[in-house]
Parts: sequence; C-alpha cells; structure tokens
Amino acid sequence: MSSLSLEIVGIDDDVPGVRTLTLALPDRGPLPSLTPGSHIVVEYDGGANAYSLTGETAAPREYVISVLECPDGRGGSRWIHRELCVGDTVTVREPRSAFAPVLRARRHLLIAAGIGITPMVSHLRSARRWGRDAQLLYVHRDGRGAYVDEIKELTDQARFFTDRAAFVAELAAVLADSPFGTHAYICGPSQFIDDVSALAAGLGWPPSRIHAEHFGGELTPGEPFEVEIATSGATFVVESGVSLLEALEAHGLPVPNMCRQGVCGECRISVRSGNVVHRDLYLSEAERDAGDVMMACVSRADGPLELEL
Ligand code: FES
Repeated sequence: MSSLSLEIVGIDDDVPGVRTLTLALPDRGPLPSLTPGSHIVVEYDGGANAYSLTGETAAPREYVISVLECPDGRGGSRWIHRELCVGDTVTVREPRSAFAPVLRARRHLLIAAGIGITPMVSHLRSARRWGRDAQLLYVHRDGRGAYVDEIKELTDQARFFTDRAAFVAELAAVLADSPFGTHAYICGPSQFIDDVSALAAGLGWPPSRIHAEHFGGELTPGEPFEVEIATSGATFVVESGVSLLEALEAHGLPVPNMCRQGVCGECRISVRSGNVVHRDLYLSEAERDAGDVMMACVSRADGPLELEL
C-alpha cells in the first residue's frame, strides 16, 4: 500500500482529550477517495496507529482524523497531542476500510461510545448523500462528546447519552424493535463492543448483521489454539493472552512487524488451513473471506491452524 506525506493544515483541541487534525497534500490537490468507515494509518517513530477518517469521502482535499490521548498507550497519541504543530508533515498510508456499510441493509444502526464515534461520521455523511436509513446511538462522557454539532447537522436520527443506564435501556429497545434486514455497526472500547454484541446476540441478532470496528491495542486475550508449521511440521499452542506473532517469535520464527496492532500490514502471513478469527484493521473483506492470509499480531483461530511458513 502506498504512503502519502501530508501536511497538517489544522489542529482543533475543542473537545478535552481529543485532538482533531486536518491533513492535506502540500499542493492541496485531491486525495484518494474512501469508502465510509475508512481509516488511515499514521506512522510515528517506532510504530503506527489507525484513525478513522471523518471528513468528505469523494475526492477529498483534506483528511480529518480525531485522536484520543492515551497516556498509557504506545506513544502515538502522545506524539500527536504534544508534539505535532500546524505545518508539520506526517506519513500516512492510503485509506482502507473494514467497516463499510452493507449496501443491501434495510436500515443501519450505528452504536458508538467515546472516540468510537469517528467512523460513524463518514457513515452518516454517506447515508445522507445516498438516502440510506441510518440511526445513531452515541454514549459519551459529559462534555466529551466529539462531532456532536456536526452529527446534528447530518441527521435528526441521532440520540446522545451521557448516562450509561439510559443508553443501555434505549439500545435494548432499539435492538429489539429493529426491522429484519437492519445491520448494526459498533465502535468503542473492546468491552463496549463485546457488551453490545452480546446484547444483540441475546435478542436474536445473527453475527452476520453485527459489525464492529476495534481500534488496536485493546483486544481480549482470546482462546488458546494449536498451530502447525507446514514446512517443518512443528506444532505448538498459542496460549490465551499471547499473540500468534509472539508465539512464532518464541519458537524461532520471527515475522516482520511494525505496529503490532493489526493496522500496518507488515505481519501478514499465509494460512494453509484453519478458521481464522480476524481482528485486524488491515485486510479487506475479500481477503478475509478467502481465508488464506492473516495478521499474526492480533488475529487468532478458533481451532487448529496450519501456516505456510
Ligand atoms: S505488525 Fe502491523 S499489522 Fe501486524
């Protein structure tokens, strides 16, 4: 995937703890278009992070991202919050999406918590442009809601919550009442995604109508699974809480890597057989469906896995 050098042309710190960057080409020319729900990967010294694009999707002249400062993170958000200034240049990888709207859906139910609102903004832009039925439920801390005014301009089908209990009650009612053919899109902390997914599943929603956007670094430990290396026949177990990448390294099989969060694409490996549980933000839906590649840093398997290594 090709990289772009983009200039920071705007910084907005209006929402406490959230820094919004506006990025453009040095000549201010058009940038690659994107599908709703897309993110870019921003590289920093020692790593890379994925951030959803919240601006226009068709031939945009600017990319807009919003970054929550994570003091305990790997350093990318601190760098963005504390070191970057207007006029600086950053390296980003072209947009990708693993969270696009399902166009055949009868209704789109967007469910966001905190900074998880960011991919929903482009979903709402697209829904308005193409006349799709989209509804948003957004829970955030008091005074910490991002894009609230913009969302209100995009739709009158948004509900905002600062009280968790009220949010859960409304969510349960909406999930129970959604017409057949509604697809749900969830973004927020991993526990939030798990809780909402479980609530939907308990109300009879099939997994095929539930879509989640995880932002790296906060994944659940996962179940153990067994790995076989096709070239050597070696087998070992990847324990819960240990990534496949770490297990391969521990068995003398280092794999190129950079972000270790499922966003940069460096640790892609080939799969000969097995059922992969994809947890990355890199592979396309078609690549996931093909089932013959996976990102070793975050993705796992729900049974024995044979790798082309
Ligand atoms: S190391 Fe970046 S996707 Fe795995």
